[in-house]
Amino acid sequence: MARLVINDEARLSRINPEIYGHFSEHLGRCIYEGIFVGEDSDIPNKNGMRTDVVGALKELQIPVLRWPGGCFADEYHWKDGIGPKETRKRMVNTHWGGVVEDNSFGTHEFFELCDQLGCKTYINGNVGSGTVQEMSEWVEYMTFDGISPMAELRKKNGHEKAWKIDYFGVGNENWGCGGNMRPSYYADLYRRYQTYVRTYDRNKPISKICGGANVDDYHWTHTVLDVTHDHTPPQFHGFMDGLSLHYYVHPEGWEIKGSATEFDENTWYKTLSKALYMDTLVSRHGAIMDQYDPEKKIGMIVDEWGAWYTCEPGTNPGFLYQQNTVRDALVAGITLNVFNKHSDRVKMANLAQMVNVLQAVLLTEGEKMIKTPTYHVMHMYRHHQGGELLEAKLSGVDNIGPDEWSVPQITESTSINEDGVITVTLNNLSTSDAKEIDIVIPDGVGEVKEANIVKGQMKDYNTFDNPETVTEEAFDGYRLADGKLALTLPACSVTEIRFTI
Ligand code: AHR
Repeated sequence: MARLVINDEARLSRINPEIYGHFSEHLGRCIYEGIFVGEDSDIPNKNGMRTDVVGALKELQIPVLRWPGGCFADEYHWKDGIGPKETRKRMVNTHWGGVVEDNSFGTHEFFELCDQLGCKTYINGNVGSGTVQEMSEWVEYMTFDGISPMAELRKKNGHEKAWKIDYFGVGNENWGCGGNMRPSYYADLYRRYQTYVRTYDRNKPISKICGGANVDDYHWTHTVLDVTHDHTPPQFHGFMDGLSLHYYVHPEGWEIKGSATEFDENTWYKTLSKALYMDTLVSRHGAIMDQYDPEKKIGMIVDEWGAWYTCEPGTNPGFLYQQNTVRDALVAGITLNVFNKHSDRVKMANLAQMVNVLQAVLLTEGEKMIKTPTYHVMHMYRHHQGGELLEAKLSGVDNIGPDEWSVPQITESTSINEDGVITVTLNNLSTSDAKEIDIVIPDGVGEVKEANIVKGQMKDYNTFDNPETVTEEAFDGYRLADGKLALTLPACSVTEIRFTI
């Protein structure tokens, strides 16, 4: 029997809503087809954005969206994507599938999308193949309301008022596709480029994000902070507000990756164990950040995370289209619990990617759209957004799975919102065994407000013919007696239970 003892007096850190952020790149069918179909499409749309997709995303309360990449960001020249659509440059998307990019989705369309979603904006700038001038003019184009060449150009292109950039990324993966740089060289470039990412309106400050490490490249984190640390807090503020980290789960490693839908129990545990590795990464990169920034003013920004499998047979390998099973529901549940637990340092995270690419929450085929198991987990976990992480001690949980990939059977995170409602999210990682768990809180549980679950067999997934094989259902596997909650968590499940004291 497992036991979760919650201390509602111990409020550890605020769970920034941006931890539940998303990422959309000019890659495969993410932007084009998945989100943007153009105003003349037969698929119902508003100003070119699919209404079914926007509607489903709004239900997730998406807090922030990152765009235009990814690797695409360091090849993107923003002026190609403004002005009349007929005159926009057509070019090859060299990075992703060699297809024609007609630039019909550009800066104006991105802000329109965020406006429809009601989310914050995260623009990723081009350091790898772009100039300081190009980056600085983009920021001016988007955010300056006075008299200037770029503000005039924006107005000429039909947008009178400046937009708000909430986050600006200075390059992406500059250790790899963003220029193959060494950390000290990138850090010097960061110092230079960020200087010209100007906040024109003090009421609309831009948070600047420095390009961080790949997986366990602790040397990168150390060096970048070392080269920039004469700007340590309080000077850091407005110089570096975030440092990114990228980590993908590849069950069989980067080269082979592994199928999204065909796997055995060993691979299930291997995948979940690799998902849990996020905890180690966040802790170790966080410890390095603590040396330079003990007050935790710089957020860790995990702006690419998720499972990355071999793409679906018969699809363009450059499009990274993959299915999404109950295993992915667990990858999401485990990872989001890790972020909640580290919300003192992790200030944003962006699932890769939003639609039709990697661990997407939505898949589309022509006019059809389905929600993936990951979607349903993100939907349940939205209740943590803006909550305060509570101290919660889990006991009576054994490790399960093969020795090499053993994982705890249960992971959890617990938060309280401003109305005093406590949300507990629990994952049962076992492929076969249910688990009993008691939830205990000093003053006793008062009333259960709601309980929901995403569950299935480990390889279950949704298709366009059977879109609801895995969905979010009401959960009735709990008993409340004498202020104590007793739950039975089915195998392969992600559960949320919400209650008052
Ligand atoms: O998300 C797909 C790619 O993964 C991104 O373009 C890149 O930043 C990362 O390597």
